[in-house]
Amino acid sequence: MLKMLGLGLAICASSIAISAELVTQPTPMITSDTSVIAALQTSAAMHLTAIEHYSTLAEHLDRWGYSQLGEKYRADAEEERGHFKKCVERLEFYDVSPVLTHPAPSWPRHDFAGILVANMQLEQKTAIAERANILASRAVGDELSALVFAELLEGSEESIKDIQAVQSMIKQIGLDNYLADKI
Ligand SMILES: [Fe+2]
Repeated sequence: MLKMLGLGLAICASSIAISAELVTQPTPMITSDTSVIAALQTSAAMHLTAIEHYSTLAEHLDRWGYSQLGEKYRADAEEERGHFKKCVERLEFYDVSPVLTHPAPSWPRHDFAGILVANMQLEQKTAIAERANILASRAVGDELSALVFAELLEGSEESIKDIQAVQSMIKQIGLDNYLADKI
């Protein structure tokens, strides 16, 4: 009987120890494959460049006198800010801080045809990266990250179509006529 009581006390003591350990242990981190984290960091950096690219373009086009284009690029910058937020939210899910270093944007001043080329280069580069990010996520079974990248890719592909449409319109009506309608 005493032996059984002793055993009971021992079990009880070990349960207390386990529950105390559970309470004091930090919440286990959700880990992801490093390739997905790298993909999220790449996309976040590209979106920081895109935010600066379209924000600075908006100011330039406003001052140049094309307020409609200024408004359009301001909206584009806002959209890119939303995409950046998605990358940061996903990194936060994995308890990882975004790396905020990124290449500076580059576009030519007072050269709208050149600006369209710069925009196209930015969006194509981003689309290529997002396609690779989708593949990297799927390769390790991270379908939720792949879905985030797929949504970001859709944004870049929409922008590419939009730039192509503007370039084709300029070819038909001429740059001056196009810009005259954007004041
Ligand atoms: Fe984007």
